[in-house]
Amino acid sequence: MLVLWDMAGGPPRITDTREGLLCLLATDKESLLLAQAGEVVVGSLIATWDGWRGSFYRLAVHPDRRRQGIATALLREGERRLRARGALRLTAIVADDDSAAMSFWRAAGYARQRNRARFIRLAESVA
Ligand SMILES: CC(C)(COP(=O)(O)OP(=O)(O)OC[C@H]1O[C@@H](n2cnc3c(N)ncnc32)[C@H](O)[C@@H]1OP(=O)(O)O)[C@@H](O)C(=O)NCCC(=O)NCCS
Repeated sequence: MLVLWDMAGGPPRITDTREGLLCLLATDKESLLLAQAGEVVVGSLIATWDGWRGSFYRLAVHPDRRRQGIATALLREGERRLRARGALRLTAIVADDDSAAMSFWRAAGYARQRNRARFIRLAESVA
């Protein structure tokens, strides 16, 4: 997973670690979806349910395997699982200067939300 995310591009996230992945699996094992070609992981999606909302993270497809419908297949399976778990609203955070990602989410039927901003703080800075 970590190698795939590195190859897929984009800045590394603070949670892109072995420990981060183990924590995800311990918290919500069902959320991690992988696309495999033989033994090789060629795509990933985290589709997680927190009891309130369904959220997508870390959609990535190997650069040699793009435009083959892998991300769409991962997303549809993620949607199916989240719906089955009770999610009414599905969200993804997308870099708005990433034209491929923006095109993908639009093609998948998602609409950009206006009039909302994302606020973040690193937990380590909380007293
Ligand atoms: C964005 C990404 C996940 C798409 O994966 P993918 O498997 O190639 O996507 P799909 O083959 O399912 O594409 C479905 C549709 O999305 C749109 N799309 C996908 N990639 C696109 C691109 N580079 N430019 C324009 N439209 C694109 C197209 O409409 C495409 O349908 P088409 O191939 O019939 O034209 C992949 O390019 C990637 O891993 N990018 C780097 C990581 C990233 O940006 N992740 C998204 C974070 S939110």
